[in-house]
Amino acid sequence: MPLSFTPLSQHFAAEVSPVDLRAVRDRATLEQIRAGMDRYGVLVFREQAFTDDEQLDFAQRFDGTLHAKTSASVLAKNRFGNEALTDISNVNAQGEILAADDRRRAGSLANRLWHTDASFEDPAGRYSMLSARVIPPVPADTEFACMRAAYDALDEQTKARIAELRVFHSIVYSRHVLGFEFSEDEKARLKGAVHPLVRLIPGSGRRALYLASHAAEVVGWPIPEGRLLLHDLIEHATQPQFRYRHPWRVHDFVIWDNRATMHRASSFDDKTYRRELRRTTTLDLPLPSTA
Ligand code: OGA
Ligand code: MN
Repeated sequence: MPLSFTPLSQHFAAEVSPVDLRAVRDRATLEQIRAGMDRYGVLVFREQAFTDDEQLDFAQRFDGTLHAKTSASVLAKNRFGNEALTDISNVNAQGEILAADDRRRAGSLANRLWHTDASFEDPAGRYSMLSARVIPPVPADTEFACMRAAYDALDEQTKARIAELRVFHSIVYSRHVLGFEFSEDEKARLKGAVHPLVRLIPGSGRRALYLASHAAEVVGWPIPEGRLLLHDLIEHATQPQFRYRHPWRVHDFVIWDNRATMHRASSFDDKTYRRELRRTTTLDLPLPSTA
């Protein structure tokens, strides 16, 4: 079935014409979605009433192996019994809103920093797929930023200076910045990972800045100098012209390419309203065979 893609902002993000992803099994349609991902970096699908199992099935069918070594898995057992179904919510196992001082709340508040998912792992996250189940009556949007347009807009001198740099990503670092500390045992499970700062994304043939709040050090550089470079690049890459803001509706399903975008949650009254989404993220491994 031919899909159509309607752009949602100047540089990236598109809404895909009505399609029921739960029923999509043929490789040709899945590859059309992948081509849409290569072109737009963020795709919005409406009216996807996924169950948890259907979401897990779709994610693997579409893009392979799921990321399960999340920071949330280090803090508490997953309430769905599967660490590959990340609980993006402000509620506990009983469905009650998390207390202000709950560690899980503190950990997830860090989603308000610009980031890419699982950049602190190797392999890192490729596609993240977020399914909206309960949406508050007040705005609680997710913002995205286009790391390919941001790369393209750099001057040639900067592109040359950063071309070969490698960056150490650590979720222990990004949480520490907000005053959240992991125990020694938790830290041992979250060692971090090194990734190139500029990545060529196969499929699109375009280069992207690979940045995140987790980006802690430029390998081989004095720490302050590396942090300042990363800070300046994040400031550049998140200018308004590179952004798309997604206002959620129940049953929206949004897929983003972590190699080509950053994202962040926005602030809302999370001590009053419930907000529940479920995320599946694939690992950036060689693609499943299309044979
Ligand atoms: C995520 C994430 C932001 C939000 O699911 O990875 O960062 O708005 N979510 O919930
Ligand atoms: Mn995220």
